[in-house]
Formats: sequence, C-alpha cells, structure tokens
Amino acid sequence: MKLEKVVPWGRNLLEYQRMFLLSDDDFQQSILGCGDGPASFNVEARQKGANVTSVDPIYQFNAEQIR
Ligand SMILES: C[S@@+](CC[C@H](N)C(=O)[O-])C[C@H]1O[C@@H](n2cnc3c(N)ncnc32)[C@H](O)[C@@H]1O
Repeated sequence: MKLEKVVPWGRNLLEYQRMFLLSDDDFQQSILGCGDGPASFNVEARQKGANVTSVDPIYQFNAEQIR
C-alpha cells in the first residue's frame, strides 16, 4: 500500500483520559503532552482549568500549512 498524502489527525480529551487513565487528581498537576499534534486534548483540558503544555514538531507549521 502506498500513501499518496499524509493527513494529520488527533484525539480529543475523552480519548486521552481513557488512553492514559487520567484521573481528576492528574488534572491538578501540570501535564506535558509529548507529540500532541492536532489533538484537541490541550484546548479541551485548558477549558476545564488544567495546565497543559503540548510539544510536537508539527507546530513549526502554521494552521494553514497543516491544513
Ligand atoms: C498520530 S499523531 C497523534 C497525535 C496525538 N498524540 C493524539 O493521540 O491524537 C502523532 C504525532 O506525533 C508527532 N511526532 C512525530 N515524531 C515526534 C517526535 N520525535 N517527538 C514528538 N512528537 C513527534 C507527529 O508530529 C504527530 O503529530
């Protein structure tokens, strides 16, 4: 199989909670999201008051370039 192009994709907050078994206590800590890419985890968690920092090489590109 040959991929003709790469499509960025990402998980949401609920998927991260299930994937990493994140508890309410975890959200009281600072969270470093490595390779968060286009996931909505950061923005959703921040909207709930969590302190999340995401790092990913894709962030060298702006939103339009990623689209
Ligand atoms: C399939 S996406 C998953 C994104 C997110 N973690 C999620 O679960 O929705 C994989 C991500 O890993 C990032 N990545 C690849 N190599 C990396 C590296 N060396 N360090 C950090 N992130 C990397 C990619 O840029 C991409 O955004």
